Amino acid sequence: MVLLLHFLGLLALQQGSRAAPTVNSTESAVFLNSSSTASTTPSSFSSYVVSSTTSLASSLTVEPISAISTPTSTIEPSISSTSTSSVAPAPEQTNLVTSPFVGPTPETRGEGAWADAVRKAKALISTWTIEQKANVTTGVGWTNGRCVGNIASQPEIGFPNGLCLQDSPLGIRFADFASSFPAGINAASTFDRELIRARGLAMGQEFRGKGINIALGPMTNMGRVSEGGRNWEGFGGDPYLSGEATYETIIGMQTPKLGTQACVKHYIANEQERNRTTSSSNINDRTMHEIYLHPFLRSVQAEVASFMCSYNLINNTYACENPLLQNQILKQELGFQGAILSDWAAQMSGVPSILGGLDMSMPGDITFNSGTTYMGKNLTDSVMNGTVPESRLDDMATRILAGWYLLEQDQDDFPLVNFDSWDFDNPETNLRVDVQDDHHKIIRHMGAASTVLLKNVNGVLPLKAGIRSIAVIGEDAGPSRKGPNGYPDHGGLDGALASGWGSGTADFPYLISPLEAIQAKARENRTTVGWHLDNFDIAGANSTALRRDAVLVFVASDSGEGYITVDGNEGDRKNLTAWKNGDTLVQSVAAKNKNVIVIVHSVGPITLEPWIDHPNVTAVLWAGLPGSESGNSLVDVLWGDYNPSGRLPYTISKDISDYSAQIRFDGADAPPHPQVDYTEELNIDYRHFLSNDIEPRFGFGYGLSYTNFSYTNLNIIELSLSKRDNEELELYHSDGEGSLKGAVGSSLFKSLHAERYSVEFDLTNTGDVNGCDIPQLYLRFPEDAGEPPAVLRGFERINLDPGATAHVTMPLSLYSLSIWDVVHQKWTRPAGDFGVIIGQSAFDVQLEGTIYA
Ligand code: BGC
Repeated sequence: MVLLLHFLGLLALQQGSRAAPTVNSTESAVFLNSSSTASTTPSSFSSYVVSSTTSLASSLTVEPISAISTPTSTIEPSISSTSTSSVAPAPEQTNLVTSPFVGPTPETRGEGAWADAVRKAKALISTWTIEQKANVTTGVGWTNGRCVGNIASQPEIGFPNGLCLQDSPLGIRFADFASSFPAGINAASTFDRELIRARGLAMGQEFRGKGINIALGPMTNMGRVSEGGRNWEGFGGDPYLSGEATYETIIGMQTPKLGTQACVKHYIANEQERNRTTSSSNINDRTMHEIYLHPFLRSVQAEVASFMCSYNLINNTYACENPLLQNQILKQELGFQGAILSDWAAQMSGVPSILGGLDMSMPGDITFNSGTTYMGKNLTDSVMNGTVPESRLDDMATRILAGWYLLEQDQDDFPLVNFDSWDFDNPETNLRVDVQDDHHKIIRHMGAASTVLLKNVNGVLPLKAGIRSIAVIGEDAGPSRKGPNGYPDHGGLDGALASGWGSGTADFPYLISPLEAIQAKARENRTTVGWHLDNFDIAGANSTALRRDAVLVFVASDSGEGYITVDGNEGDRKNLTAWKNGDTLVQSVAAKNKNVIVIVHSVGPITLEPWIDHPNVTAVLWAGLPGSESGNSLVDVLWGDYNPSGRLPYTISKDISDYSAQIRFDGADAPPHPQVDYTEELNIDYRHFLSNDIEPRFGFGYGLSYTNFSYTNLNIIELSLSKRDNEELELYHSDGEGSLKGAVGSSLFKSLHAERYSVEFDLTNTGDVNGCDIPQLYLRFPEDAGEPPAVLRGFERINLDPGATAHVTMPLSLYSLSIWDVVHQKWTRPAGDFGVIIGQSAFDVQLEGTIYA
């Protein structure tokens, strides 16, 4: 069933999207002509950039900059003529924004952490035939192996077990005896680097324990649109927060000897499910660099082993064949040394994708189970006939094998695949290896640490001894009637919501519902508990709420991947209201009881306006998607065993129209390649509210505690750079001969990221219980820089006993103080003074200082 849904979904999307390619594995001629760029005709090998000094409409004008400075391959320019567009733009779709051709693909360098791995990979493939090398780039086809993606073994040539690729960003999809962790969005809510790394490590251990070579996560798209179906898989609406969470997750997952290869996704601008395989995300160069690229830059800094390119087009060229994004930005500017693999059936062409920088085709077939492929035999033929240089194929294979060596997966102690995605009941293929260890502890901890206290009138929370009788109201408090995994890929809302739906999920080994945990606590506390779980029986809910000391009302909002539709929500949410009569439930119960505490389980913002100011709604806890220990995590916070310190990783608005972007095109009105213009540019999430003076209901970074904190003694210290860093920066910024601008890895130069300023202050716990605060550092750029009024550039999670003070330091680098200069194609610090704001959210100011020009 799951398979069928996934398959049908992709098929439908693809059939809707483009002329069905008729390639079969022996027809290389068709392969050569099957490009799918909607409007780009690669014309030269110089590199170009879309100027973002102009508007999107006029960004059709491309401005030449210097060619990639270190061409390392020998692709002949004439090849570009084979890469012409085969999907003709619809008549009404002329004059589209375009993405230029840039090449050739830089070869992996084998530097730093990758040195040994690349050396070994090169040595291994040096004896391989073209066909053997092509095999390692080509998945065996959907469901033709035990994992969601499989590369065949070639034991006779030193590649004994092939590769197993498996979802998801929150645990192992399609596996038993494995954990279901809090979703990425909850990891982000903790603002706790250590905890996020620990979650990454725990997941890495589980993936490794099942013999998975490449874990398909983390997911780090930006949540540009609040209704975006998959936002919850990622880390929220700010690039800096998202970058930190991505970095820590990867470091944890790829822990040497304990973890496995991570695959960061979806590269890039895969921000809505609607039309995800046909729409073009149109983004200017500056916005691309400062917002969407940043978490991917952090991934490269974490030495992530692989990238997954996304389904959508960017500036009208498909992501997996987009040379500007793959060849230039990722492999040149960021100097990424590993492999790019396609999202499942997101490879839309042969030669253009290969010359555009794609290294691996997943799951290998053009459409699921078609028996056709863009790689495999076609790739072999293209190398044989000279259309694809063998050096490109060598680099593809090298990058793939380098990831394998990087995580020492060639060693005997790396487990063999011991599970079967498609057949849990086959004892020969699913060995039921239990990889959960004691990860329930970190799941429970993170569930509590990610819970955000939004409202707490007169300190009603934590619940006190005087609360002797409570009612629990709402379906979201109880177990699902179908069990924790009753819907394929979790595509259904029934009972407590603890993850969204789609490929980004994992089966729950168990799921502690809030009601279950509350009852266990009630026995301990000698509290009486009543409940009513039918959201539509308002009379029943009302009578259950009468005469209780406190009423806990649960509401939820769900979303997921677009191949499953739930209650009219086609992946993306169709609105931002609570599901299943939730608002009416809260309002009516609040009319009957004076102490109503609302708990929200949600994939993203919901509009709280119908009841948030109701005087009888005394507290609101935002629990997000907490994973399998849901109820326990919540009880820890409700009764004060855990002082909440979660912070919102996105802004909750008063109205959906307050956000800067909405889902574009609702079906009937969609042209063949819907144009999704990112006209808000840098103004996503809180940035838009600040720029336009819109008051949010609860802003990004907001969250209360059971204690209070005070801020004093801000001090900004300028640090000096080493001689070497200074020299490198001088060369980076010079435009003359020897300039390092645009060099391989230039956006990652250590000198750009070295600490230049130390922002320091004192933080005191002025209340009477222990707790964590999350001070946040926002920069106010000089006015001419064209930045939003405040942008996040630092945060720390600090634990303090009552009365205690901590001296907090936050570093700032030159990169933190820079904007992407589209003309000179480098990070530049704008002239002028910078404001430094320390606050408890994007809308709060506790301390202010200045970094002078
Ligand atoms: C999703 C990816 C996922 C892949 C494999 C695709 O539909 O977009 O995130 O990793 O399927 O299941």
